[in-house]
Amino acid sequence: MVSHTQGLGPIGESRVRDPATLVIFGASGDLTRRKLIPALFIAYAQNLLPEQFAIVGFARRDYDDVLFRGMMADAVKEFSRLQTDDETIQRFVEHIRYHKGDISDPDAYAELKKKLQDVEIYPENRLYYLSIIPSLFETAIASLKNSGLVTDPAARHWTRVVIEKPFGKDLESAMELNAKLLHYLAESQIYRIDHYLGKETVQNILSFRFANAIFEPVFNRSYVEHIQITAAETVGMESGRGGYYDEYGAIRDMVTNHILQLLCLVAMEPPGDLSADAIRNEKVKVLNATRLDIRKDISDSVCRGQYGSGVDAQDKHLKAYQEEDRIAPHSDTETFAAMRLKIDNWRWADVPIFLRTGKCMGKKATEIAVQFKVPPLQLFQHVECEEDVCDITRIAPNTLIFRIQPDEGIFLKVGTKRPGMRFVVEDVNMDFSYSGTWNKSLPEAYERLLLDTLHGDSTLFTRSDEVEAEWRVVQPILENLDQLKPYTYPPNAWGVPEADWLFPGTEGQWRNE
Ligand code: BG6
Repeated sequence: MVSHTQGLGPIGESRVRDPATLVIFGASGDLTRRKLIPALFIAYAQNLLPEQFAIVGFARRDYDDVLFRGMMADAVKEFSRLQTDDETIQRFVEHIRYHKGDISDPDAYAELKKKLQDVEIYPENRLYYLSIIPSLFETAIASLKNSGLVTDPAARHWTRVVIEKPFGKDLESAMELNAKLLHYLAESQIYRIDHYLGKETVQNILSFRFANAIFEPVFNRSYVEHIQITAAETVGMESGRGGYYDEYGAIRDMVTNHILQLLCLVAMEPPGDLSADAIRNEKVKVLNATRLDIRKDISDSVCRGQYGSGVDAQDKHLKAYQEEDRIAPHSDTETFAAMRLKIDNWRWADVPIFLRTGKCMGKKATEIAVQFKVPPLQLFQHVECEEDVCDITRIAPNTLIFRIQPDEGIFLKVGTKRPGMRFVVEDVNMDFSYSGTWNKSLPEAYERLLLDTLHGDSTLFTRSDEVEAEWRVVQPILENLDQLKPYTYPPNAWGVPEADWLFPGTEGQWRNE
């Protein structure tokens, strides 16, 4: 049996040894077509999937093996990041089969069990991928367990279950969900996906911090002025997501998972080793020390926004959030959220932490910016004039930017002398970009994460206590939403200007770059 806590290592580059059957529940959905099957195909094309494997699509639609295989072949052609030949695609889809069934119907599991008994086709190690609405998680897992499709964690053949967010809607429901999952499965069998952890650039935060000795000594309250994390998206409510989104909003959809995970990686202590539990223990410690930086009341540490209508460059009407499909009239769900946090530990005490995310913003940009303090003595201030307007220019603080996407890379802003007769210090970028350094496309998050589940490596998945600690950070916001009515912002802006109010007493502002 593969141990649960293998940790970050070269394992992702090696072929999965254990033969396995992957059953995807909700196989007719978008995730299967756009992400899961193309990611599995790439693993197959690189010889990383086990020699013997089967993929079973489980859904209600009236498909059969041939039709489903054809659809999956099309999905590979449309969404795979690598060009490939038809023959390889054909060989890959021969491993795919379809099982028609309703997730709420116990007979569907009995039928599935019967099918999987043919171990020549369906290897006995089983990975169940639940790409379904959260209200069906328990039904699916209970039915799998009751029909004898879940093995004991110590058994010869493993069972693993992958679940997609949302892991609850608040702290209480997250705890309830964890309790239900843990009633049927051991923690070591559960893989909660946060796809941000599968991103190459996100994993690189750990390497950058802990493989270089020069940054760690300055990564603390003595040198860091503040940290800001932005996840700005240009998309609105595309692909009919309105129904889900209106119930969740930006804080639940992005902050309680992806953005807090980024914060963990940039703020955590070095783990003793790279095992899954060593890394996750450190993340939980940071989350447990993180809280809203409330000074007078919650509105000085949190700001919510919602996009209104606008027009694009061609004068075309851009819908307001409330005009989008499946959004409640007068909805006050936020599509933008910004907050100011603090981390009460020795490393980060009093260092303001700013988080912000939004839909329909002016630019797609996900980044972490660590802004350092300015030198204690401003030797290099100078006067800059534009026509007859002159200003004293002070040197800008050094900033280290982890650019998660797009233009993936790491940049360090430093002051250097501008060539010329005057002694003028100007900000320049020392940069490392993925595209300029390696001439190949970055693996998609799901490629890495699916292989990790097959290898039994849970490092890049969220543990139950981690999920609960994430909800604990935002719980005071969820309990005070009536004091935090969303401000309106025009589409294609950097969110609401009111989010600037979070900065008083801090040297700096949002990086709208
Ligand atoms: C998902 C959210 O988890 O992440 C979406 O539900 C969001 O609302 C998406 O758009 C962003 O992912 P990425 O990889 O495009 O940054």
